[in-house]
Amino acid sequence: MAQGAPVRMGILGGNRGGCVDQVSGPLQGKIMLAAVCDTDEAVLHRWRDDRPDVKTYDRYEDMLGSGEIDAVFIATPPALHARQAVEALQADLHVLSEVYAASTVDECWHLVETVRDTGKVYMMAENYCYTRPNMMVLNMMQCGAMGEPTYAEGAYIHDCRALMFDESGELTWRGRSKTNPLQGNWYPTHSLGPVAQWLSVNRGARLLDTATFVTRPEGAWRFAADRMGADHPLASPGRMASGDSATTVITTQRGCVIVLRVDTSSPRPHNMTHYALQGTRGSYLSERWHGEAPLVWLEEHSPGRSPDGSAQWQPLWELAHEFEHPRWRAEGDVAESAGHGGGDYFVLADFVDAILEGRDPPIDVYDAVTWSSIVPLSIESVSLGGEPLNVPRFKA
Ligand SMILES: NC(=O)c1ccc[n+]([C@@H]2O[C@H](COP(=O)([O-])OP(=O)(O)OC[C@H]3O[C@@H](n4cnc5c(N)ncnc54)[C@H](O)[C@@H]3O)[C@@H](O)[C@H]2O)c1
Repeated sequence: MAQGAPVRMGILGGNRGGCVDQVSGPLQGKIMLAAVCDTDEAVLHRWRDDRPDVKTYDRYEDMLGSGEIDAVFIATPPALHARQAVEALQADLHVLSEVYAASTVDECWHLVETVRDTGKVYMMAENYCYTRPNMMVLNMMQCGAMGEPTYAEGAYIHDCRALMFDESGELTWRGRSKTNPLQGNWYPTHSLGPVAQWLSVNRGARLLDTATFVTRPEGAWRFAADRMGADHPLASPGRMASGDSATTVITTQRGCVIVLRVDTSSPRPHNMTHYALQGTRGSYLSERWHGEAPLVWLEEHSPGRSPDGSAQWQPLWELAHEFEHPRWRAEGDVAESAGHGGGDYFVLADFVDAILEGRDPPIDVYDAVTWSSIVPLSIESVSLGGEPLNVPRFKA
């Protein structure tokens, strides 16, 4: 890569991959969208119409070998991510991978070893770590205002059933995941990522054991019956077998407990950003719906005292003057204008800065595989009746 030149990005998976285009403006001079690869000709057609200056490819190996890109943003269905990341790293390219990073524990280790062997920058694009409230809570933790953490929650509750079928009625990757008889926590990183950062996981703390429990399947097959008719083969709990709601419990070696929930098929309003945190000097509770204020109570900052019963929640924003994260203070307006709650901007900014400045990205391969390993570990735990399993120690 030429000194001072922008990072030339290739997108793999042109739907979600479009977010690179949205943040290219604010990151002008640091990032240049050079190529898009997708196996769907209709997606490539759309790109050619919108961005005739961007090269299009229908074969990944052709984009990897083109010499026109320095880095790949992998935004294909999750089961493909680990293999495609390894291929890019071995082609001497940096990698930004959508969530989750890997589907098996073997894939996790292979990814770690390939990043170590190639020395390329690898980052997972966990944009939920960068929302304004999550970064403000991170700042409270890092300032010591919350005290020592003891308990945390994260939940991704998003009725995705309308995304299970494409226009022709074929199952999408989200729909196919609902037909998977393996029960587990299939989408943990939006919930675990911010919590792991609050708890300094891989930065002194580590995850110890994890167990998962899953409810029976109800939402997906009922939706299939409504949409395709009760006689359709998918309109049965045996075919849409993935349970509606998975609850994962994780312990840390510092005696914290984390509870995660994922539910992508129950009928209800979304709450994709549920979080809670308990520390020895304060407590945090995220908003329940879009527009509601997240709540916080901090000893010596918030009204009342605990345990005399006078402690009162206050909106998180009331403490922004003191605890707004410096990144949000400086770049919040730009980040927000780039969409997706600001997260996409910060993810791409941190990825290209890591490349241009030769430093480790803030969500590195160890974070990526630690958070993603909950997918295979949860499947194994459920198959063993909820038995707790060790989380591998990917980072020595
Ligand atoms: N972080 C977030 O907020 C967020 C939001 C949406 C999606 N995502 C992630 O982005 C990824 C994609 O999600 P999506 O909703 O865009 O899915 P999608 O199915 O709409 O798009 C995936 C694209 O990948 C293409 N593709 C599939 N296999 C390919 C291959 N082998 N080579 C090249 N292209 C291939 C498909 O043709 C499709 O265009 C997922 O990992 C998802 O978890 C993250």
